Amino acid sequence: MEMPTPSTQRNPLISEPFDMVVFGGRGDLAKRKLLPALYELDRDNRLPPDGRIIAVSRGEMGPDDFVKLVEDSCIEFSTKGKPLNPDVWGRFSKRLSYVGMDATKPDGYSPLVSALKDRQAVVRVFYLATAPDLFGPTAANLGRSELVTPVTRLVLEKPLGKDLASSRAINEAVGKVFAERQIYRIDHYLGKETVQNLMVLRFANSLFEPLWNRTHIDHVQITVAETVGVGGRWGYYDASGALRDMVQNHLLQVLCLTAMEPPIALDADSVRDEKVKVLKSLNALSGPDAANSTVRGQYRAGAIDGQPVPGYLDETDAKDGSNRETYVAIRAEIDNWRWAGVPFYLRTGKRLPQRCSEIVVQFKAPPHFIYPTYGAMPPSNRLIMRLQPNEGVRFQMLNKRPGPGELRLEQTALNLSYADAFGSIIPDAYERLLLDVIRGRPTLFMRVDEVEAAWRWTDSILDSWQQLNVPARPYTAGSWGPSAAIALIERDGRTWHEDDA
Ligand code: BG6
Repeated sequence: MEMPTPSTQRNPLISEPFDMVVFGGRGDLAKRKLLPALYELDRDNRLPPDGRIIAVSRGEMGPDDFVKLVEDSCIEFSTKGKPLNPDVWGRFSKRLSYVGMDATKPDGYSPLVSALKDRQAVVRVFYLATAPDLFGPTAANLGRSELVTPVTRLVLEKPLGKDLASSRAINEAVGKVFAERQIYRIDHYLGKETVQNLMVLRFANSLFEPLWNRTHIDHVQITVAETVGVGGRWGYYDASGALRDMVQNHLLQVLCLTAMEPPIALDADSVRDEKVKVLKSLNALSGPDAANSTVRGQYRAGAIDGQPVPGYLDETDAKDGSNRETYVAIRAEIDNWRWAGVPFYLRTGKRLPQRCSEIVVQFKAPPHFIYPTYGAMPPSNRLIMRLQPNEGVRFQMLNKRPGPGELRLEQTALNLSYADAFGSIIPDAYERLLLDVIRGRPTLFMRVDEVEAAWRWTDSILDSWQQLNVPARPYTAGSWGPSAAIALIERDGRTWHEDDA
């Protein structure tokens, strides 16, 4: 057998050669996430020597100024204030260039055309880290400028619209220029290690599947709690709110991975087909059902970690009288054989007491309990999959407390900490996602029908809130949300999981 010569051998860890063009290349996402993630990929030797990064933004900027901007961003967000590795930075900085142009002007693309000429055969990625109303016009202009090659991919950042109609308009506009297989819609939660591990836990172990259904599971809780407020982006957030900003995408994606049927394989369509089925089986909440099964909240001034923080209406740029929700809790149901009658409680909010994302699967009590209970029934098994921080998996179960005398049961846990098992460095979600785009692996990105099914479900809640004037109930920053959210679950005889880890 003929062995490949060293020059043709490819290290499977290294991506294809590429040109990545980041629209919004000087914006917040590029500075905080994309450029530092690319730097880290380079540090880990995952980028080939001929991978180039071209930032596009309005306004001129000298090449040295742009390189300095990227260096500052990498120091702030990648090495957290420590100097960059000089070898890695030397290599990475040579990949960078900047093109000042207005992406909305069809006749303004010649600087980009010249930057990309002679590289027709190289993987080309257009990453639109811009406002969603620019997605359609930018895609059209890229097509008009003949910049779309057969190996071109388009990455769209969220929000993908503000409802089903606007999302469809975006999808139709970009669909005129790019085939669906070329479009990578980002939900960065899918790039998180622990979110990917959800599928591994469920489908690479035989323990869970026989129990993963309505016969054995009482209910599921999905929580994404943040301590941050809306900070410097009040205007954006006020047009959106927690349901659009977090539930329509991140929480529903986590719900899909928790509830879906085993896919027949790991290819993009097999996985996405199963996720779409979950979204389509979500019981539509409309009218009074939506009002009864959801709680909206808005934070007031309070304290986080002992530090006073302002209320939502006192944040910079805030406008009086906004009823926008910064918290939402939902009691959802999935109408299919596996999950009939099993509630999924979702909650997310800003300015909650801890940053914590987790899925809690509460199992049913044993059918016949032979042990003395001394009053209340002891808690049944709980599987807690901690997405961030302190990533890990915990399984709570009853054990005999050692000692003579009365037989006493105590809840203890099998505890798998990611940090202990795999070391403490967990790569940022964007590293994985950017590499997948370059390599042409779309499994961790959302297909058009997924995004639209998610909007269809959220739209019906949004419409009901509007028709019924559902208020955003106040909650104190640093608390777990409005008391109505506690009542939402307690009226079913259940309680929100409170983490003591
Ligand atoms: C973003 C939302 O998509 O996700 C933000 O727009 C939110 O409002 C962020 O803060 C949370 O992401 P993470 O990775 O910090 O949990």
